[in-house]
Amino acid sequence: MRLSDLIDVEAGTLSRASFASEEIFRRELERVFARGWNFVGHTSQLPKNGDFFLSRCGTETVIVSRDEQGAINVLLNSCRHRGMPACRYDSGNGNGFICSYHGWSYGLDGALTGVPRFKERYQGKLEREKWGLVRARVAVFYGSIWATFEEAAPSFEDYLGADMQFYLRALLQGPDGEDDGYEVIGGIVKWQVPCNWKFGAENFAGDHYHGYSHISVERLSVGLSGKTSRHNFAGVKVKQQPTFVADPARGHTIRASVFAALAPYDDQEAASAEVNDYYRRSHEKRQQRLGDKSRLLIRGGVIFPNTHFNSAGRTTIGLWLPLSAGRTEIWRWLFVPRNAPNAVKETLREYYLRYAGPGGMVEQDDMENWTAAQRGAESLVSRRYPFNYQLAMGLERRARPDEWLGKDVTITEDVTEHNQRAFYGHWARLVADAS
Ligand code: FES
Ligand SMILES: [Fe+2]
Repeated sequence: MRLSDLIDVEAGTLSRASFASEEIFRRELERVFARGWNFVGHTSQLPKNGDFFLSRCGTETVIVSRDEQGAINVLLNSCRHRGMPACRYDSGNGNGFICSYHGWSYGLDGALTGVPRFKERYQGKLEREKWGLVRARVAVFYGSIWATFEEAAPSFEDYLGADMQFYLRALLQGPDGEDDGYEVIGGIVKWQVPCNWKFGAENFAGDHYHGYSHISVERLSVGLSGKTSRHNFAGVKVKQQPTFVADPARGHTIRASVFAALAPYDDQEAASAEVNDYYRRSHEKRQQRLGDKSRLLIRGGVIFPNTHFNSAGRTTIGLWLPLSAGRTEIWRWLFVPRNAPNAVKETLREYYLRYAGPGGMVEQDDMENWTAAQRGAESLVSRRYPFNYQLAMGLERRARPDEWLGKDVTITEDVTEHNQRAFYGHWARLVADAS
């Protein structure tokens, strides 16, 4: 498979087969998903030793556990005897896992601790130390937990690169700018959508211009204040410039806004007096703590390939989990500031539920788009014609950005498909055979 079968970088077009072909999908699993680092959860989901929950690395189910020493482990959830899931609970607390097929048991760190009638059946010869659950490499970054089974992958920090390290750290700062300032609320929201995983990924990577889809919900003003818009930053009067950051060598992307000056708090989160007061104090603390850098408002992005996030007051991190070329499972973690009063957490919980997920009014618009677009990628005649990614092509790097915003930054007066081009350029180089 040649690069030109997938993408025309000069022309800014992408084949529709990229979304519909099962062969391309198989290549993605091996060359994109198996080689990358995967977001698997957050340390706030494991407050006590013995806590565990199930997560995913691409198509693999993993156990994320905190062992007796307090260390975090990510284990392939596949018994070494016949492959049954060693753990069948979504989450819990215990001192290990017992496979329900023949009863092999494993510690929280994956070590094989018990085999029924070990002495008689194996004459004591089974080398138990070699038959523990397969352990992933693990990285914890400001509370977020990441894993990979690829021995040859770079360290997580190198995988992120300097720009994405800055943005991921910023994403995980609370509204007052404190590092690792969030905790996960509730469980993980999970649902399936009949479309290719990349429709969601490219939307979060760079699509700042599909407000057209959300006009009806925009008019309902589902934002936190209930006053304007579906976003809670829409009332802010200081000019914000659309800002796009892409790492073409790694495929990571950010959508953000940069305020022209330090913006005063504008009651944009005034759901109630208590909530407003929390956000006002947090806003001021963040400006004191971060100074000029507090002009940054992260809106969303993708850590290549399939970890996506939303910010700007409703911080979520999620996964586009590939099931087949035309089917995706979406997982989403909802974050609330850990130092906030309960009124704030509860207000955010309600905001998330009306905004995102299978029942969310905004996300339903997106899912309708992606599932209908999937049919356009699959049908006999329409699949011959590539998709167009030419928006603002050649207009990258129009402004000289502040250095702290990163290397490959585009600040625009309007929108661009710069980020989508970077995402797909990197994706296609991995999927195609080296020429
Ligand atoms: S499959 Fe797990 S003990 Fe046999
Ligand atoms: Fe959307």
